Amino acid sequence: MNREDFPMLQKDIIYFDNGATTLKPKCVIDKMNEYYLHHTSNIHRGDYDAAIQTNELYDGVRNIIAQFIHANPEECIYTSGATMSLNMVVFGYMKKHLKKGDEVLLNKAEHASNVLPWIRLSEEIGIVIKYVPLDENYCLTLDNIQKCVTDRTKVISLAHVTNVIGDVRDVEAIGNYCLEQHILFCVDGAQSVPHLPVDFQKCHMDFLSFSGHKMCGPTGVGVLVARKELLEEMDPLCYGGGMNSFFEEDNSYELKEIPIRFEAGTPPIAEVIGLGEAIQYLMNIGMENIHKHEMELKKYLLEKVSSIPNLVVYNQNSDSGIFSFNIDGVFAQDTSIYLNHYHIYVRAGNHCAKLLKDEIGIKNTVRVSMYFYNTLEDVDRLVDALKNSDNLYQIVL
Ligand code: ALA
Repeated sequence: MNREDFPMLQKDIIYFDNGATTLKPKCVIDKMNEYYLHHTSNIHRGDYDAAIQTNELYDGVRNIIAQFIHANPEECIYTSGATMSLNMVVFGYMKKHLKKGDEVLLNKAEHASNVLPWIRLSEEIGIVIKYVPLDENYCLTLDNIQKCVTDRTKVISLAHVTNVIGDVRDVEAIGNYCLEQHILFCVDGAQSVPHLPVDFQKCHMDFLSFSGHKMCGPTGVGVLVARKELLEEMDPLCYGGGMNSFFEEDNSYELKEIPIRFEAGTPPIAEVIGLGEAIQYLMNIGMENIHKHEMELKKYLLEKVSSIPNLVVYNQNSDSGIFSFNIDGVFAQDTSIYLNHYHIYVRAGNHCAKLLKDEIGIKNTVRVSMYFYNTLEDVDRLVDALKNSDNLYQIVL
C-alpha cells in the first residue's frame, strides 16, 4: 500500500525493520520543511505572523493525537519518545506515589525502557518487581497476571505489542481487571500504536507511551498520554522556560497547567508538526486496514517458510507483523548481514529485550517487522534468500 509516498522505497531495498523505525512519507518531510522554510519561530512566545501560524499547528497536533488514541487533548504530552514517556511515568509519578514493598508486575518480554526505569526505582525506594511468567507461546495472559497479583500489587506495566515476539496483549481485559483491582495500568504502545487501533479510554489505561518515528513520523518526538487526575499529581522531570507561571527570589514558584507543565524549554517543534501529519496520514489509510494488511503478509510468510528446513520460528502464533526466527546453527547477526547482501533490511540481536532469553532459551534472533508498505513480493524475496542460505557463509565471510 502507498509505496509511492515513500522516497526510500524508490530504491531497490526491502525494508523489514519497522519495529526499529519506519520510513517517512514525503508529506511528513514536506510538512516539516514547510515549517523550516516558511514559518520558523518558537512557540508560545512570539506575537508575529510566523509565530502565530506555528502555535496553531503545534497546539493543533494535540487534538489529532487525542482523536487518534481516544483521549482528551490536555492528557497528551509531547515527549522525546516512548523511552522518555516511560521514564516520566516512573520518576515523575511512581517515585512520588509508591513506597517500599509495593509490587510492580512486569514480564520478561519487555523492552529495556519498560524494565530499567523500574529497576532503578527499586534501588531508589525499594519497590518489588515481579515478572509474570509467559505461556508456552511466550505470550502474556490475564490468567498468569492474576496469579501474580497480591494485595501489594500497585502497578501492571506492559507493552501492548512486544518487540520480539510481537504478541498483542489483551489490554482491554487487563485494563478492566486493573480498574476493578485499583491497580495502575501502564502501557508501552511503541509497537502497537503504529500498527493497530488503540483506545486509551476504552481500555482504562492510566498511562500510554509511544514514539513518533515508529509510525511514519520524525525521530525525537513521542507522546505520553495519562489520565488527567494522575497528571495533576505527577512531577515534571524537567524545569525551565515555558512551563512556569512565575518564580521569585524567595524560591516561590508556580507551574503552568497540564500538559504545558511537562514541556519545559523549546520543544521539538518541527517534529511535533511532522508527527501530526504522520498521524493524519495513518488515519487516512485506517488502522484496521494497516493491521489487516500486516496479518495477511504474516500469514503468507508463515506458509512460505514452512517448507524451509532448519528455520526456527519463535512467534508462529502472534497477531502482528513481527516474525522472529533463526536459521539453526547460524548466528543471528550473520543472517542479517547475509540478507543485506540481497538489500533486505532486518534487525538481529536481542532487540533490547534482554530478559527474554530466560523464557525462549536463546539470546539473539533475527526479526522481520512489517508495515503497510511491505508487499507479498517483499516476502517472496525474503523467502527466496532464506531458501538459498546454503551459501550464507560464502557471502558473509
Ligand atoms: N525498540 C526498537 C526495536 O525494537 C528500537 O527495534
